[in-house]
Amino acid sequence: MPSDAPERITRAKDIVGLALEKGLPAEDLYVDTLVIPIGVDPEAGNYYLDAVRFVYNRLDELPENLPPVKYPRTPGYRPTADENPYGASPKVASALGGFSDYHVYPDAGQTAVREAVGRYVGVEPEQIVLGSGSDEMLGMAATLFLDPGDALVNAPPTFGMYEFLANIHNARLATVPRREDFALDLPAMERALDEGAKLVYLASPNNPTGNAVQPDEIERLLGHDAVIVIDEAYAEFAGESAVGLMADHGNLIVIRTFSKWAGLAGLRAGYAVLPPDLVEIVWRAKVPYNLSVASEQAILASLDDVETLLENVRLVVEERERLGERLSATGWIRPYPSAGNFVLCEVRGIAARDVRDRLRARGILVRYFDEPALRNCIRISVGLPRDTDRVVDALSEIGATVG
Ligand SMILES: Cc1ncc(COP(=O)(O)O)c(C=O)c1O
Repeated sequence: MPSDAPERITRAKDIVGLALEKGLPAEDLYVDTLVIPIGVDPEAGNYYLDAVRFVYNRLDELPENLPPVKYPRTPGYRPTADENPYGASPKVASALGGFSDYHVYPDAGQTAVREAVGRYVGVEPEQIVLGSGSDEMLGMAATLFLDPGDALVNAPPTFGMYEFLANIHNARLATVPRREDFALDLPAMERALDEGAKLVYLASPNNPTGNAVQPDEIERLLGHDAVIVIDEAYAEFAGESAVGLMADHGNLIVIRTFSKWAGLAGLRAGYAVLPPDLVEIVWRAKVPYNLSVASEQAILASLDDVETLLENVRLVVEERERLGERLSATGWIRPYPSAGNFVLCEVRGIAARDVRDRLRARGILVRYFDEPALRNCIRISVGLPRDTDRVVDALSEIGATVG
C-alpha cells in the first residue's frame, strides 16, 4: 500500500460520512463490490476511485448502515453522462452482427483501425494508438510521464479523471483553479510548469464548464518542458481541434474518443494522436490486446458512416443552442455557453440539489454540483428535441411551485 493509504482511507470515509450526513438516500451511495466500489453520486462514482480502492480493501471500516446498492441504469432515462442521444451508427450493429471471428485475438498492431482513424483525423496512421475509451489513453499518459512525486497540473473545475490519475500514480497535484468565467489562469499554470510539473491535462471543450481552450493558450503551455495532453472528448461538437499544433510541437498529445460523437460510449473506443517522437514510447507501454475486436469493428463501421454521425452531431449542437435559450427564458436558470453536448447551469433562487431531486422524481437525471467554483449548479446533457421540451417543462413546473 502507498504510504498515504491511511490518509486516503480517511478521505474515503469522509466522503461516505459526508454523504450520509447530507442525508443522501442509500441509492445515492454506489457500491459495486466487483469493479467500482463507491461514489457519492452515481455519475461521479469513478471520481472517487482512488479513495474507493481503499474503502474496498477495508470494507469493515465502512459505516454499518451502508448497504451495497448499485445505482440502476434504467433504460429510457435521458443521457446524463453526455452520451449521444442518437446512439451509434446503424452500421455498427450490422458489423457486429455479421462478424464471425470473436474467438480470435484482436490485431495488437491495430493496423486497420489506425489507418481509418488516421484518415479521419488527417494524420499518419503511425501517430494513432487506440484504447478502451479515452480514459485508457489518459491513464497511459500518466503511466508514461509521471513518476511518483511528480507534479501534474490540473485546472478545476474539470473532468475528475485527472485528479484520480494523479492520485493512483502517487503524483502531486499542482491545482490551478480556473478564473470565475472558467478561463484558464495561464500565468499560474506556467508557474507550476516552471517549478517542474511534468504533465498537464486540459479538456477542450472542458467538462463540465463547456468552454474550449484557445490555440494560443495551448501554444504557451507547449513552450514549457512538459507533456501537454489535450482531452478532446467533445471536439466534434466544438468543431475545433489542437491536432494541427502537433506539427510544430513534440510535447503535445491529443486524446479523443468515439464515446460522444459516434455514440460508442458502451463499447469503449478512444485514441491518442501522438507526435512521431512519442509514438515508440507509447507502444512500449501498451498491453497487446487493449482494444477488443468488437470495438475495432464498431470503429471501422462508424468511420464508414461519418456523414450520418456528423449530421447527428449537428442536430445535438442545434439542440444545445435551443436548450440554452429555453433555459435562459426561465429567468432563474443561467446557462453557461457550451461547446460540448451538455449545458452547465447556475440555478438562482432555488437549491440546485432540490432541482436535481425533483427532476429525478420525474425520471430526468442531471448532474448536480456544489463546490467552490460551481455553486448551486446543474449540468444537463443535450438530448433529443423531445428531451429538451421535457426537461424545460419540468423545470418550469418546479420554478412555478417555488414562486
Ligand atoms: C473530458 C472527458 N474526457 C474523457 C472522457 C471519457 O471518455 P471515454 O468514454 O472515451 O473514456 C469523458 C467522459 O465523460 C470526459 O468528459
